Amino acid sequence: MTVKLAFIGFGGVGQGLLQILLEKENELRLEEGLETQVVAVADVMKGSVYNPNGLDGNQLLSLAKEKRPLSEYIGDSSTITGLDSIRTIQETNADVIVEVTFTDVNTGQPAIDHCRAAFEKGKSVITTNKGPVALAYQELSEAAENNGAFFGFEGTVMSGTPALRLPRETLCGNKIHQITGILNGTTNYMLTEMEKGSSYEEALKKAQEQGFAEADPTSDVEGYDARYKAVILSNVVMQTPMIAANVPCTGITEVTQEMLHEAVKEGKRIRLVAKITRTESGVKAVIQPEKLDETNPLAAVPGATNAILYECDLAGPIFLTGAGAGLKETGFSLLIDLIHFTRQKAAVKQ
Ligand code: HSE
Repeated sequence: MTVKLAFIGFGGVGQGLLQILLEKENELRLEEGLETQVVAVADVMKGSVYNPNGLDGNQLLSLAKEKRPLSEYIGDSSTITGLDSIRTIQETNADVIVEVTFTDVNTGQPAIDHCRAAFEKGKSVITTNKGPVALAYQELSEAAENNGAFFGFEGTVMSGTPALRLPRETLCGNKIHQITGILNGTTNYMLTEMEKGSSYEEALKKAQEQGFAEADPTSDVEGYDARYKAVILSNVVMQTPMIAANVPCTGITEVTQEMLHEAVKEGKRIRLVAKITRTESGVKAVIQPEKLDETNPLAAVPGATNAILYECDLAGPIFLTGAGAGLKETGFSLLIDLIHFTRQKAAVKQ
C-alpha cells in the first residue's frame, strides 16, 4: 500500500521521521507492505512545496539541513509552492497528515485546527503534538471516527516508548487504578545534572543544547509539559476527560542543589512526578517534585529517560522505561502510528 504524506511543520521531529522512512524503505515494504510518498511539506518558517506525484525526500532533508526555504525545491512542472498549512491539508492528495508543529501549551493551536481540517476531509492524522490530545481529545477522536480517519498520537507521551499503546492494547482487560510517571525528560535531566554538581542554569542550558527542552522551556521547568501528558493519560488510558487547568502543578524551579544533595544523603532522590489516580469521585492528577526512596523504581531513572508505572487490577504493577524525548525517538513514534494506520487499512480491505 502506498501512503501519501503531507508534513505540517518540518522541524527535527518531522525530519527524523523522513530520515527513518528513507533508511527503512526496503524493510517497511517487505515486512509491513508499507510504501510512503511525501507529497507536501508546509512549515511556517520554511514555506511549502507540493507535488501530487511525490517529492524527493533526500532533497527535502538537504534543504532543511542547509536552512534553505522550500521554495528552492527543484521539481517538475507539477510542483507548487506557497500553499499554507490549511490548504496543504485540504487541497493536496495526501492520505495522512503528519502534524508536527510546535505545541502551544495554552491554546493547542494551530495544531487543533490542523486536525479538524484533516478529519473534515476524511484524512488521517499522526502527531506528536500534545495540544490536540490534551485539549481536544474527545472532539477530535469523534471527528476522526465519524469521518473514517485514523488518529495516531503515540509520541505525545514518552516519545517512541509506547506509553499509550502498551496500556491500551497490550494490557487491555485490566482496570488501571493508578499511573505514576517521570514524564518530562528535560527536568529529569536537569535534576540528575544538579545532583552531580551543575547549577540550575547550567543544567537547563545543557538540556536545551541536547534538544530535549520545549521551544519555551518554561513549559518543562514549571511542569506544564508533564501536566499535559498526565491529561493525555487520563483522556486516553483512563478514558476520563480531564481539564489541564484543573490539575495542580508544581515544577522544579524551587528545587535547589542543597535539597537534592540532602535527599541523596538520606538515600533518596527528588524527581518531578506525575500521578494520575482513579478515585470514587473521578480521576485526579497532580504534578510535583517528590522525594522518592531509592527502592522506588522511578528514583533510579537517570537523565532524560522517562518511566511510567501502571498499577493494574489483573497484571499488578507494570513498569515501562525508555526515551521520553529526542528527534529520532520521537520520529520513530510517528512510524509506530503509520504502521498501525497501514495495518488497520489492510484489515478493513480483507
Ligand atoms: N520537552 C519534552 C521533555 C519533550 O523534555 O520531555 C518531549 O515531550
